Amino acid sequence: MIDRYAVFGNPIKHSKSPFIHQQFAKQTGQELSYEKLLAPVDGFEDAVTIFFEQGGKGANVTVPFKEQAFVLCNQCSASAQLAKAVNTLWLDENGNLIGDNTDGLGLVADLERQFGDIAKKSIVILGAGGAVRGCIYPLLDKKVNRIVIANRTKVKATDLASEINEPNVKGMGLDDLSADTDCDILINATSSGVEGKVPYISNEFIHAQIKAYDMFYGSEKTAFIEWVEQRGITQSADGLGMLVGQAAESFTRWRNVKPQIEPVLLQLRKQML
Ligand code: ATR
Repeated sequence: MIDRYAVFGNPIKHSKSPFIHQQFAKQTGQELSYEKLLAPVDGFEDAVTIFFEQGGKGANVTVPFKEQAFVLCNQCSASAQLAKAVNTLWLDENGNLIGDNTDGLGLVADLERQFGDIAKKSIVILGAGGAVRGCIYPLLDKKVNRIVIANRTKVKATDLASEINEPNVKGMGLDDLSADTDCDILINATSSGVEGKVPYISNEFIHAQIKAYDMFYGSEKTAFIEWVEQRGITQSADGLGMLVGQAAESFTRWRNVKPQIEPVLLQLRKQML
């Protein structure tokens, strides 16, 4: 029987994970199956338990189950612990359920692919939700100079920074961003893109040397990228590469071989046009 993998979510119809992992398998000569599984909103635990009992080798988890997956795990990575969310599951040799959160590693890989080395760079992240939580440790591991978490609701950003408790991680309100805020890379990790909106930030803070990254992606240019381009920023990228990057990290955990991101990203982009 070939090794079986799956992604759990609700909804799950539009997930690109099966395509990405099947391409990785082809590329690295691995034989495996990867399917989308729709779990009932109140039935995630049962669905995952049955999947692994029936011999499933590994799973991805997407909205709205990442927090439930974290609770289910017997053991998980530091990134997953800070995020309190898990996107990758597998069993160890003793049958323990292991969880990781590869979103942040996917982000870091894509930032470096698009913008070069991020060591010593000053990062400003917009948002303070789960998407931000998953990314802080992978960014710190890259020895960035400073991370500012800027959120519409300021207290969420300052609370998260206190929880992280690192001298170079600071929380503030979106409206505290000013010409004095050092920024090499600006990351949009708010969910504003879902509604085609842009988080409010002052024009004074934006300058043309900033490299902008939107975790959101779509078949067209995102609202955030349009907005930064109108303000003179010429280097920007959306989050499709992060999606492929986090999948590559999951694949590596499961199969012990690292697939190439670029060819799969190109295919995916073509499909979305
Ligand atoms: P996720 O897991 O995707 O991070 P989340 O935990 O619901 O989702 O967090 C959503 C984030 O997007 C929050 O930081 C939210 O800001 P608030 O804490 O002030 O609610 C931010 N957000 C959503 N819509 C926004 C908008 N239109 N402008 C600015 N920030 C927005």
